Amino acid sequence: MKGEAVTLEQIDKNFAKTAVVRNVSIAVQAGEFLSLLGPSGSGKTTLLMMIAGFETPNRGRISVGARDITFEAPNKRDVGMVFQKYALFPHMTVAQNIAFPLRMRRFGKAEISDRVDAMLATVQLEGFADRLPLQLSGGQQQRVALARALVAEPPVLLMDEPLSALDKKLRETLQIEIKRIQKNLAVTVVYVTHDQEEALTMSDRIAVMADGELMQIGAPTDLYHRPTNAFVAGFIGKMNFLDGEYLGQDGGEAVIRLTETATLKCPVSTVPAAAGQRLTIAIRPEDVAVRQCDGFSPQCVRGRIEAALFVGAAYVILVAIEGHSGKVLEARFAATGGSQPFVPGDTVDVIFEPHALKLFASQQRQAA
Ligand SMILES: Nc1ncnc2c1ncn2[C@@H]1O[C@H](COP(=O)(O)OP(=O)(O)OP(=O)(O)O)[C@@H](O)[C@H]1O
Ligand SMILES: [Mg+2]
Repeated sequence: MKGEAVTLEQIDKNFAKTAVVRNVSIAVQAGEFLSLLGPSGSGKTTLLMMIAGFETPNRGRISVGARDITFEAPNKRDVGMVFQKYALFPHMTVAQNIAFPLRMRRFGKAEISDRVDAMLATVQLEGFADRLPLQLSGGQQQRVALARALVAEPPVLLMDEPLSALDKKLRETLQIEIKRIQKNLAVTVVYVTHDQEEALTMSDRIAVMADGELMQIGAPTDLYHRPTNAFVAGFIGKMNFLDGEYLGQDGGEAVIRLTETATLKCPVSTVPAAAGQRLTIAIRPEDVAVRQCDGFSPQCVRGRIEAALFVGAAYVILVAIEGHSGKVLEARFAATGGSQPFVPGDTVDVIFEPHALKLFASQQRQAA
């Protein structure tokens, strides 16, 4: 088996008069694991259905390798598919389920038997060949579905939330298994999920969707550290957003007024606002530093601790920023084994590490 590239070019899809996919272009590389990540209704399944051939785009082109498949029938596309619900044939055994795509393609008996055995080993279900789907756990059923999707060696495998019906523990085990099988077989995977942790764990790259549009595509670390818009910044990981006024540049740094008394500097030259305009400042909880209040210092704002929590690996505090209309910031520190060092009600200085600040246009869409 060898993965093939999947190319989406300027895809539009409307249902009735509603645009549910808008001008989406994505080039999935051969052998790549690409996730489509986004909130409910953002168009992920619709995109996948167009790659599978169950929906047709209103505009644009889809190809697998060099082949234009935009209007090709689903069964001609050489694309495997795994859905959220296992969708196994209930009256067929595990082996018969896995053999099904090969029988459709009129493979010989011996070849079918060999390939089914190999797939059973790949998904670690040797010994389950004669069971019926009802006699399997959810995770085992989903592994059968995976084996059935892969047995005909499609160069492309599409998966739509294949693990969302399973409990957390099983989900994590299967995430690792799917990833291992995908790498071994070098198959190209387009994987739909609305679980950002799952996408971060499994993907070579993630395409973040919102309202039918592609917001950003990149490696997990890119999206986390270098989000190009406020939506991705808020959707991937935790992010604090604050409103500020851009005052102008000073020695290569953007100067932003956060409150009446506090200004921040940020070492960026391209600012998404003109001097005098409002903008959105973003900072991750782990980049917010806090110390006991010791009067005025730059890059600092006064705050009051509203809550102090212990969440296992970290201490989390919520700080209300003085002079910023009740804005509450989250800060997060690695737990060191000592007791929670912060006390609700204390006044503190909140320090905004300049390199950790991100600036976005204030009218940008944000994740809910
Ligand atoms: N067959 C259809 N007819 C009309 N509207 C549809 C149809 N299928 C999907 N839609 C609409 O298109 C939009 C995108 O739906 P889609 O199923 O692609 O979202 P999704 O990102 O997969 O969401 P979820 O995470 O809930 O599965 C939604 O607003 C949905 O209501
Ligand atoms: Mg969906």
